[in-house]
Amino acid sequence: MAHTKPSDLSLVEPTLNKYAEVKGSLIAILQETQEAYGYLPMDVMEHIAERTGTPLATIVGVATFYAQFRLEPVGKYLIMLCQGTACHVNGSELISSAITDELGIEDGQTTEDGMFSLEHVACLGCCSLSPVMMINGKTYGRLTPDKAKKVLRSLAAEGGEAQ
Ligand code: FES
Repeated sequence: MAHTKPSDLSLVEPTLNKYAEVKGSLIAILQETQEAYGYLPMDVMEHIAERTGTPLATIVGVATFYAQFRLEPVGKYLIMLCQGTACHVNGSELISSAITDELGIEDGQTTEDGMFSLEHVACLGCCSLSPVMMINGKTYGRLTPDKAKKVLRSLAAEGGEAQ
């Protein structure tokens, strides 16, 4: 996805005012930055480097090391597809293929229209409903490939209208 628009740096200002001088606060800064932007835009990381005096390479290194940080914007709908044992046994692979089939994205990717991102995750804690996916906080259980595709289609219709 093209990031042509520069980020609004004012969103990170309160965080920097709080932490810029505090040693060992890089992770906290990145967490708040991600909350503010939904991911860690490169121009914001450059700004953080400047304000904190931390080399950009260090910041990018930390951002790529921890799975909690994203370097790309996430889609409007984040599909968290469970790959835990129960879901795996009950066919999460088939659901994964159905999603790839329907949206053309694999684990860690976002559709070109920015509508959906797919993320494989560990047990979501509702194994009795396996296989399970969670989309923007809502749980969809006892999935079949067909059912998963239907959910995605209805969200795509909803999301398209709202835009
Ligand atoms: S294994 Fe999928 S919810 Fe537990």
